[in-house]
Amino acid sequence: MTRYKRHLITAALPYANGPVHIGHLAGVYIPADIYSRYLRLKREDIIYVCGSDEHGVPITIKARQEGITPQQVVDQYHEMNKESFDTFGITFDIYHRTSHPTHHKTASEFFKTLYDRGEFTEKESEQYYDPEAKAFLADRYITGTCPKCSFDKAYGDQCEQCGSSLAATDLINPKSTISGSKPELKKTKHWYLPLDKYEPFLKQWILEDNKHWKANVYGQCKSWLDGGLEARAVTRDLDWGIPVPIEGVEGKVLYVWFDAPIGYISATKDLTDNWEDYWKKDDTRMIHFIGKDNIVFHCIIFPAMLKAEGSYILPENVPANEFLNLEGDKISTSRNWAVWLHEYLEEFPEKQDVLRYVLCANAPEAKDNDFTWKDFQSRNNNELVAILGNFVNRTIVLTHKFFEGRVPYPVSPDTYDTEVLNNIAAFRGKVEENLDHFRFREALKEAMNLARLGNKHLADSEPWKLIKTDPDRVKSILYTSLQITASLVALIEPFLPFTSKKLAGFLNIDGVAWEDIGKTDLLAVGHEIARAELLFEKLEDKVIQIQLDKLENSKKMNEAREAGLPPVKDEITYEDFSKMDLRIAKILTAERVPKTDKLVKLELDTGIDKRTVVSGIAQHFKTEELPGKQVTILANLAPRKLRGIESHGMVLLAEDSSGKLIFVTPDEDTSEGSVVL
Ligand code: MF3
Ligand code: ZN
Repeated sequence: MTRYKRHLITAALPYANGPVHIGHLAGVYIPADIYSRYLRLKREDIIYVCGSDEHGVPITIKARQEGITPQQVVDQYHEMNKESFDTFGITFDIYHRTSHPTHHKTASEFFKTLYDRGEFTEKESEQYYDPEAKAFLADRYITGTCPKCSFDKAYGDQCEQCGSSLAATDLINPKSTISGSKPELKKTKHWYLPLDKYEPFLKQWILEDNKHWKANVYGQCKSWLDGGLEARAVTRDLDWGIPVPIEGVEGKVLYVWFDAPIGYISATKDLTDNWEDYWKKDDTRMIHFIGKDNIVFHCIIFPAMLKAEGSYILPENVPANEFLNLEGDKISTSRNWAVWLHEYLEEFPEKQDVLRYVLCANAPEAKDNDFTWKDFQSRNNNELVAILGNFVNRTIVLTHKFFEGRVPYPVSPDTYDTEVLNNIAAFRGKVEENLDHFRFREALKEAMNLARLGNKHLADSEPWKLIKTDPDRVKSILYTSLQITASLVALIEPFLPFTSKKLAGFLNIDGVAWEDIGKTDLLAVGHEIARAELLFEKLEDKVIQIQLDKLENSKKMNEAREAGLPPVKDEITYEDFSKMDLRIAKILTAERVPKTDKLVKLELDTGIDKRTVVSGIAQHFKTEELPGKQVTILANLAPRKLRGIESHGMVLLAEDSSGKLIFVTPDEDTSEGSVVL
């Protein structure tokens, strides 16, 4: 690493079309944050950049669904996600956004440079066009019947029933989701980056020069390269994004995956005037932290873009993580199967480090991994509380109890005490060795091992008993414990920054330099420490159960939706409800309305009047069986004329997912006119 003078750490720009969840944190932002904090502690020149990815089709779909503009969508989630990251102690030097003018300019210029130099190829192709909406349709805007499994709500790029990936033209009976009309094929021109041209360079650079990349990353790159690369379109027909900067071209924008990674450059520009040092000097070490679905874009396409442009450096490493699942299932926004950061913060305020700890200890570094609330509880209770918290608490409480809160002079150290004391420094090396190789789980384990060692030393030596027989020995035991605690302030900082800060407060110090970890006199004899509060608290079963119940509800809602039941309607107030006059009535007579399929004319006794109600139930009941039945009616519905008959109110019916209707009747006979509350 010696040839590098500075580090540029990037974390994938999350889409600003939804909140961030634990999968984002575990996969990208926590490892990148640990790494950045570590480099800062080592006093390296480092910047850590991120921001919102605000273009792309899903954002326009979300806007349409909610009846707002794409800009409103991204404004909302940009702020929300920025805040979540900040509260979790993710120390971006800048959290930029791709709708920012700096970014539009940077990405436009980048495209223009390649265009002017003839780096793109142009191609016409036929794409679906919505004649009513007068717009080309992105794949996600087209639905139709899947040719493989006949599911009738497959998308133009994928069938969510059978999982096949599709081309929009594969769909049977394609329909535009914008207007519902049948799309037509229409010619359109786009610009392509000829990746095949960069294949020899990429093969050399990745397969030969970057053998040190993580196996999961190297392997995915190799299989892309072995499969052969094809030209990729870098423009789209869409009205949300960065307009294609070519004279005379309208209604086209840069493909979101072309502009988004340039967002790292834009962010650096707005962070520092020296941005070119970070992007153009080959003594800069650039590291991209991403999830595995981003590998091809960061290892193949973006490097090809940078290479084509010519003045930029390439990443030194791309330590991508695999995916984090939740309770055995894939995290999914549409199925609400996630732990959202903003919700976690509401339910576990001040417990950011607990989640940081669990997500790092369980990070999907080499393979997909599972987050479970039981594991969250047991890591909190058995590791944070029982090891780190317990060790620190005993050290501080005993120092107050025996030595008035002052670091004692180690009068008669036992060899055990000396060994432990001299062993502290080794932990720094072990943590460094792991962090240098992006092994965050192992690194955290080693940091915790120092607390384990301290805990064991205390438990074995039992100073609370020795104080009566050998008070001098107790001095050297606690001297050792206090020095360990001081080293922990620095050693845990990259992982548990809030805890590190508290710990420094307990010890009445500002902080500990990374290079001082292991010093045997970090706290001077006589130094007065402060009082401790509990660092972590035990999580009871009932707290965990609430989270499990919440997920159980998501599961039920998904099952109901899959079974064809409509989702719950928008919330109403009690006032809204109380406007409805619901009562029990008895059917006196029933007759079919002639020349209709469904309508039945009912005469009802409502207890307050006799009235006529027309109801669409002919296919579900025999008219002769209706008289005498008690039903529930909405009595104050404005009268409506149906086939010339005035209907005064509505009979309540329950419809199951197959469309079968039954009456909502009282569960025992009651008097007509009874009010439903
Ligand atoms: N928004 C993308 C995702 O969430 C990541 C973009 S990373 C960038 O998968 F480099 F393109 F910015
Ligand atoms: Zn299918």
